[in-house]
Amino acid sequence: MNLLEERICKEGKVLNDEILKVDSFINHQVDPYLMKEIGKEFANHFKDKGITKVATIESSGIAPALMTALEMNVPLVIMKKSPSKVLKTDLYGTEVVSFTKGTSYELTIAKSHICEEDHILIIDDFLANGEASTGAIRLIRKANATIAGLGILIEKSFQPGRQKLEEAKIEVYSLARIKSLNGGSIQFIN
Ligand code: G4P
Repeated sequence: MNLLEERICKEGKVLNDEILKVDSFINHQVDPYLMKEIGKEFANHFKDKGITKVATIESSGIAPALMTALEMNVPLVIMKKSPSKVLKTDLYGTEVVSFTKGTSYELTIAKSHICEEDHILIIDDFLANGEASTGAIRLIRKANATIAGLGILIEKSFQPGRQKLEEAKIEVYSLARIKSLNGGSIQFIN
């Protein structure tokens, strides 16, 4: 069992058969030491891929993505869910529907921070239905940049995200893969 899985067992709260709360170390309060170790793990896994930038979706992906970018010595680019109305920037945009939240939003990225020479590693906290990840991929492709892979902290393997991404030929590396949350018990894929 790795560091993240141990922490999930200790502090994760199963809300129902589909939702795991990890507010005390990922979503509301962030454990910087854990994020540093996660950054090292992703940087090591993707070290030979020629990555030029790390990208993530605000907000919970930022902490692990920043630590990964630091370890890889590359910039971090943040995709936004609500573009600033004050700072008018030229953006690529795409609509993302969240099944978990029952909402949709426009995901955007600044054109000035991504270009066709970029080879991007996407980092995010959860992989559930894969809508956020596939939205991020669409945006990167709009900029004619390429995707090195996807690093995920917690994959809910009983939902279809991984399958969608594998069908799109994207490498998914998840640190914790959850087989089931049924009956309040957290089962991992080893
Ligand atoms: P998808 O991106 O894989 O399709 O997932 P979905 O749309 O279903 O998820 C939307 C939001 O819900 C994402 O957060 C995702 O991280 C979060 N989420 C999905 N499943 C779980 C879960 O089991 N537990 C928790 N805690 N979150 C879950 P978001 O809206 O992007 O939020 P944030 O990054 O601003 O925190």
